[in-house]
Amino acid sequence: MSSPGARAPIVLTGATGGVGAALALRLAERGELLVLTARDETRLAALADQVRSRGGSAVVHPCDLRDQPAVEDLAARIPAELGAPAAVLSLAGHSIRRPLADTLGRPHDLVRLTGTNLLGPATLILGLLGPMISAGRGRILAVTSATARIPAPGWAAYGASKAGLDSWLRALRPEAAAAGVGISILELPLVATSMAEPVYGTAPRGALRPEQAAERVLRCLDRGTDLASPAWARLGAVLAQAAPTLSARGVGLAGRFAERGLRRDGRR
Ligand SMILES: NC(=O)c1ccc[n+]([C@@H]2O[C@H](COP(=O)([O-])OP(=O)(O)OC[C@H]3O[C@@H](n4cnc5c(N)ncnc54)[C@H](OP(=O)(O)O)[C@@H]3O)[C@@H](O)[C@H]2O)c1
Repeated sequence: MSSPGARAPIVLTGATGGVGAALALRLAERGELLVLTARDETRLAALADQVRSRGGSAVVHPCDLRDQPAVEDLAARIPAELGAPAAVLSLAGHSIRRPLADTLGRPHDLVRLTGTNLLGPATLILGLLGPMISAGRGRILAVTSATARIPAPGWAAYGASKAGLDSWLRALRPEAAAAGVGISILELPLVATSMAEPVYGTAPRGALRPEQAAERVLRCLDRGTDLASPAWARLGAVLAQAAPTLSARGVGLAGRFAERGLRRDGRR
């Protein structure tokens, strides 16, 4: 257990990702104690060095979010070693874009994405919520996507996994808030990271830089925003409810244009 007066840790999943690493460095500048997790141990260690060189502290815990026992173990170790987290920033994620014809016979896409984007994060959050509620403070922040609320052809498994996390957290929010723990959901637009690259190329037009996305996470955390989402995503979510079939067709068409229009590397 941590010593009295020690700084409460901030748990960051997806720490080695484009947005996660930028966020870790910004939190380091504030002198935070970070628990950095992802699968790649080498990249985690390198990031921890960078965090320390910027004035933060870092503990590294490699973990595959699809490995439920490993996630449960991690959720138990963090409070035992460092005390109840001040915040859990759930950024880890995996995306697959695949049209229906290529999805037939591939239920494992759903297994993989729900494991990484829903079950793993939820298991970690559940394990950490108990100590946070006992401490009577803290914030859970999950990064999701507009596809959680605007079904988009090709992104069915990704959208479903993000929608599951979104819905689960929204339902927990009132009871968690009554116990002193806030829950924030941040829907990011396109960000130029390795996640976006297979579909949109390395520097898609109009995409946020990882540093800009990290600033959005920080703003959401600092303000305790319940839902931070681009205006177009809020409008899209209303249309998706009001006209589900038309909206999904429209999103499919817009998506195909966007893929061609946003790439800058000339590939089609
Ligand atoms: N990029 C976008 O356009 C965009 C748009 C909307 C929302 N988002 C969301 O924003 C968040 C950050 O995305 P990003 O763009 O920074 O993605 P990224 O660069 O691909 O990073 C993904 C992170 O998740 C970790 N991860 C992946 N699979 C994992 C697993 N099974 N277990 C544990 N960790 C795992 C990766 O580390 P390891 O590979 O080492 O495990 C990496 O740290 C994600 O939740 C994503 O869904 C992104």
